[in-house]
Amino acid sequence: MVDTSDQWIVERTGIRERRIADRDQAASDLAYEASKLAVDRAGLKPEDIDLIIVATVTGDMLFPSTACFLQQRLGAVKAAGFDVNAACSGFLYGLYMADAFIKSGMHNRILVVGTEVLSKITDWEDRTTCVLFGDGAGAVVIEGTTEDRGVISINISSDGSMWDLLHLPGGGSRYPVSLESIEKRLHYIKMRGNETFKIAVRTLEDLALKILGENNLPASELSFLVPHQANLRIIQATADRLKIPMDKVLVNIDRYGNTSAASIPIALDEAVSSGRIGEGDYLLLEAFGGGLTWASALVKW
Ligand code: ACO
Repeated sequence: MVDTSDQWIVERTGIRERRIADRDQAASDLAYEASKLAVDRAGLKPEDIDLIIVATVTGDMLFPSTACFLQQRLGAVKAAGFDVNAACSGFLYGLYMADAFIKSGMHNRILVVGTEVLSKITDWEDRTTCVLFGDGAGAVVIEGTTEDRGVISINISSDGSMWDLLHLPGGGSRYPVSLESIEKRLHYIKMRGNETFKIAVRTLEDLALKILGENNLPASELSFLVPHQANLRIIQATADRLKIPMDKVLVNIDRYGNTSAASIPIALDEAVSSGRIGEGDYLLLEAFGGGLTWASALVKW
């Protein structure tokens, strides 16, 4: 479709495979599969969930929210639901809210989902983006505990002055869908990759040092770094700067590409299901994405 090669993609990004949803699958369909598993593994029923937070930039429709579609499909009849738009940082933004709602006592059991069907907003004629993105979903259930575990610390940040590094201009109220917007391909992701790359590496290092410092936890005490999966070189550079060996970094970009808000919960699911992450492990979750937005969380599993 474009002038590229497997060698370029693997060397520059670390991506070897990706998953692409069927034409008739939307974000809530993927979210449903992940959520069903998460609720089941938490030993709960959908009606036990009292809030659904869905992080996505590829929701089924502009409205209603994807959380509402998911609520109906799951049968989570007692849950309120809304979507969060923070691009690749979306899952951690959702976790941030869930943590605050639980700690304030406003909600008891919250489903936080990252789900994306980025293949539908990918410009398959733009080689600078079309080799990067994949589809997927992951979900977690958050509830209060008196045990010494859970979200220890969580931060979110944004800098709207750099919104144009990574955005999808068309289809909103700035450039509503029109023949012109389609001809100009405004309904597809635009990214200035190299500039984003440099800011991402710097920001992810600073983020990690800040949250570890605030919690007096040296990087050597971490069981795993769980970074958003945008580019293997970004992940390696961050790990290098923090002196974290790569066997303590969760990496799945080789198999899924960049799944935006879904990449962290997918990585968590794989590591928990395979027994790689166990109770008491210290995890550092961090993400960086369009907005610009970034976020980090220190979690004791
Ligand atoms: N195949 C072959 N050549 C390509 C391709 C391709 N698919 N894409 C770009 N090139 C070429 C460019 O045209 C350029 O050629 P030139 O030197 O002749 O001008 C050359 O490769 C280098 O291009 P760069 O953009 O400098 O390549 P870079 O090493 O930066 O890699 C990439 C590009 C993979 C996009 C990288 O910059 C990246 O991963 N950026 C960060 C992405 C990110 O973190 N995004 C935030 C999260 S995503 C979200 O929020 C949804």
